[in-house]
Amino acid sequence: MSPDPVRIGLLGRGTVGRAFAELLAERAGAVEAASGRRPELAGTLTRSEGDFGEILGRSDLIVELIGGTDPARAYVLDALRAGRPVVTANKQLLARHGEELFGVAREAGVQLRFEAAVAGVIPIVRVIQESFGTTEVAKVFGIVNGTTNFILSEMAATGAAYGDVLARAQELGYAEADPTDDVNGADAAAKMAILARLAFHTPVTLGEVAYEGIEQVKPDDLAYAKELGLSLKLLGIAERHEGGISVRVFPCFLYAGHPLAPVSGPFNAVMVEAPAITEVTMSGPGAGGVQTASAVLGDVVSILAGEAPVHETRQELPVVTDVVSSFYLHLEVADRPGVLAKIARVLGDNEISVKSVVQRGVDDDARLVMVVHECLESRFAAAMQEIGELEDLRSAPRSIRVIEEEFV
Ligand SMILES: NC(=O)c1ccc[n+]([C@@H]2O[C@H](COP(=O)([O-])OP(=O)(O)OC[C@H]3O[C@@H](n4cnc5c(N)ncnc54)[C@H](OP(=O)(O)O)[C@@H]3O)[C@@H](O)[C@H]2O)c1
Repeated sequence: MSPDPVRIGLLGRGTVGRAFAELLAERAGAVEAASGRRPELAGTLTRSEGDFGEILGRSDLIVELIGGTDPARAYVLDALRAGRPVVTANKQLLARHGEELFGVAREAGVQLRFEAAVAGVIPIVRVIQESFGTTEVAKVFGIVNGTTNFILSEMAATGAAYGDVLARAQELGYAEADPTDDVNGADAAAKMAILARLAFHTPVTLGEVAYEGIEQVKPDDLAYAKELGLSLKLLGIAERHEGGISVRVFPCFLYAGHPLAPVSGPFNAVMVEAPAITEVTMSGPGAGGVQTASAVLGDVVSILAGEAPVHETRQELPVVTDVVSSFYLHLEVADRPGVLAKIARVLGDNEISVKSVVQRGVDDDARLVMVVHECLESRFAAAMQEIGELEDLRSAPRSIRVIEEEFV
């Protein structure tokens, strides 16, 4: 006699939910071959269809693809408490309520899986929590938002302005009608909160992630950067730091040769660094209904195979906010003698040393574009304040972080 089918309750049937239902029907035989049980849909909940209580009662496993925190949080908690394993692609839910959800899953002794919530198709959650589960991870970083990577790649390739490229990204379906959370860094911040929590086994919530977006990036920043051999990415970085951790998202220049520099278009790439593994890089498509559904189905198979990560908190690490960074600095100044010396003095007084400079005359003004070596961010902010007050400045100074490592 063949074993009972596994009945899946599907919450949400939008872009990902619809693709998941189709994939489930198409790949049911493969899931059965991999797990020993054939999956079938027990019911679907949308705003206009289905009743959560009834679907839960008929299901062995819940797949949450509604998004947002309300009502998704209540449904996921109810399902876990009722002893049903849950798969979700919901980064907002995990970044805001991860500790609560992991705690309830632990108490109920059921699995909560969320591979599709972070970095598209890249199986980074599984790799960090399973392959590197006992590794002392030093740093997880990368490009975790495909929309912004597409926009920055297009701006660099075409010289077009941010607004024009955003409109094109929307036409092509790489940016949503409301792209706010993608372009201001909030989406990437939610994903980095989840990755940091997994990598360092310490609670990290969205509110502890400092983030900046790409809305202020100007085409001439990208043009000058090219001359300095740099390319721009929106990076998420979670790293250990003097007994604590720092988790941040910001636009950042990389030198050619850095493994993330060639990642362009709507792609994601994540690097993991640890003394025991040196460094691992994975890349792949950043989103899409079918791709995300495929990651969700992978989680379903993992659940059926058993053996769950328990998401225990091993330590409480403080979040450090003042860290060292290298910066690109763009200044528009009056073209007269002594200006460069004044700027160099302010930098020197703040113990900031210059790595490279490009200077251009533009009418009666000059543009100074420089890269400075690593310094404490608070020091750099103080120097920017002082430089911004110099009477020779024609506009507010602009700065973007730089990863100084030059890979060859
Ligand atoms: N789209 C992607 O490429 C992608 C990539 C990675 C992760 N994700 C994540 O996957 C999840 C789903 O994304 P999506 O793009 O598929 O969203 P979506 O297209 O907006 O679909 C959302 C679905 O949830 C249903 N829903 C919304 N509010 C509900 C409520 N109060 N009660 C019951 N059902 C409700 C909607 O019902 P109606 O059909 O009635 O409107 C719809 O079927 C999100 O967490 C998202 O962050 C998406």
